[in-house]
Amino acid sequence: MSEPKVKAKRVLFFDSGVGGLSVYKAVKALNPDVEAYYLFDNECFPYGNKGDHFLIKRIEALLEKASKIFELSAIVVACNTASTVALPELRLNIKLPIVGVVPAVKPAAKLSKNKIVGLLATPGCLSREYTNNLIKNFASDCKVIKVGDAHLAEIAEDRLSTGVVDKAGIEKIVKPFTSLQKEESPDTIVLGCTHYPFVKDVLEELMPEVRFVDSGEAIGRRVKTVVKEAKYIETDKIQNRAFYTGVLKNYEDREKMVKDFGFVSLEKFEL
Ligand code: DGL
Repeated sequence: MSEPKVKAKRVLFFDSGVGGLSVYKAVKALNPDVEAYYLFDNECFPYGNKGDHFLIKRIEALLEKASKIFELSAIVVACNTASTVALPELRLNIKLPIVGVVPAVKPAAKLSKNKIVGLLATPGCLSREYTNNLIKNFASDCKVIKVGDAHLAEIAEDRLSTGVVDKAGIEKIVKPFTSLQKEESPDTIVLGCTHYPFVKDVLEELMPEVRFVDSGEAIGRRVKTVVKEAKYIETDKIQNRAFYTGVLKNYEDREKMVKDFGFVSLEKFEL
């Protein structure tokens, strides 16, 4: 006799790389019963220096395929660069609840005492109208200093798979903040890329006076509301699974890493 099926809410987390794992962690902390699938598009990493049209087509193709082959309750686009460019298209074409992750400009503007807010994100994310509207709508009383470098996500990516962090590289990237006079410096900086929480300790070391804000916990709360309404899937066993695209050079390191995050497998995703 076959085992009875179990009911679960299955959520797909999507990112260009490992950054979305920071969102996955925050979501899991508030939603421990959710079954997580994690898809990262290593083939096209980093997204931060790619054009809008390319990203929209690519992300849409991947998520449409994922929503067809996996039975899903909801999708979390755990990437600011992807969300700020592709959310409208995705919501139009994929009939599942989709939670986007965008820079936490609103809470940062509220928290800032000196009304100078830093926004650290990828160049792509910083250039988007979506991001500029966030600033216009929620931080109009603040001076917002934008700093963007596609390499910071790569530094975070390398740290997670090798354990080695390029501190000198980070120091160079955040120079536009650290070289400011005290009275011109932000007291609050938005980590506008889901990779950056993985280098937050280094950023704190370089800027000890600054409060860093990310979207993780807010997304955890949003997912809680969304999954309540979302459909159940039936499965033999609840298992978190991770998927990659293209060729993964450091497969063993990555497999170990995703297992440390609570995934049982790392599998190839064919587009
Ligand atoms: N994790 C992504 C974000 O939140 C970007 C990393 C990349 O450049 O691919 O923006």
